Amino acid sequence: MSAHNEVSKLTLRHIQKMKAECEKFACLTAYDAAFAAAVDRQGVDITLVGDSLGMVVQGLSTTIPVSMDELIYHSKMVARGLSRSMLMVDMPFMSYATPTDALKNAARLMKEGMAEIVKLEWGELQLETVGRLSECGIPVCAHLGLTPQSYFKIGGYRVQGRDQDTAERMRQDAKALVEAGADMLLLECVPKDLAAQITSESGVPVIGIGAGADVDGQILVLYDILDIAPGKRTRFSKNYIAEASGIHGAIKQYVDEVKSMAFPAEEHTF
Ligand code: KIV
Repeated sequence: MSAHNEVSKLTLRHIQKMKAECEKFACLTAYDAAFAAAVDRQGVDITLVGDSLGMVVQGLSTTIPVSMDELIYHSKMVARGLSRSMLMVDMPFMSYATPTDALKNAARLMKEGMAEIVKLEWGELQLETVGRLSECGIPVCAHLGLTPQSYFKIGGYRVQGRDQDTAERMRQDAKALVEAGADMLLLECVPKDLAAQITSESGVPVIGIGAGADVDGQILVLYDILDIAPGKRTRFSKNYIAEASGIHGAIKQYVDEVKSMAFPAEEHTF
């Protein structure tokens, strides 16, 4: 039995409460136990084992080749490093192409990878899938806006929802996903006004990356804030190591700035 004063593991209910009380929550990626322990210790509320691991750990140019086995391998390590932070894990490309595949693979992420919520990228087919996962008691975060697994279909990494038609479609998609059972939404590279509108209309917590300050929580890629990701830094992220005394200081500064809404600033926003 744990002592009463021990910090307990955050659950969906804690994150929902943060939204209800207008308390911003901080999320960050991690890919191994050492970094997971560091983000946990500095107060990161949700840790994501993202398929970004393909680009920042494996040196790939897209997230598409990342496999289920690789995500499970990294997720297992991250789970061992976390005491308080909730563990979210990405479903890789084509692991949820049918509701049956999605159920089987989400169950693997939970049973083998110790995931506490799974994340999948938006597509028309996902409404049925989200419903099936939800019926089976699997928490789901639906990723809208820029969906990197559709890189070749979109033709690049670009801001989504800039014109009225696509913005309206994204609002309707967000609403339908929540009605289908999504427990969280994640908006990537979305104009700030649209992200604010979706956040105020959604009963579930909304995480943003390149989506402005008016979402419920922020997420960045750990290696971007530590300035060790290969390639050019994206406009919406921030180098926190430049002025910090070390890795722990950089992560703490990020968490503090998310909580105080100092991050994201106008320069990180579309
Ligand atoms: O894979 C990832 O790290 C992500 C974040 C960029 C949100 O999906």
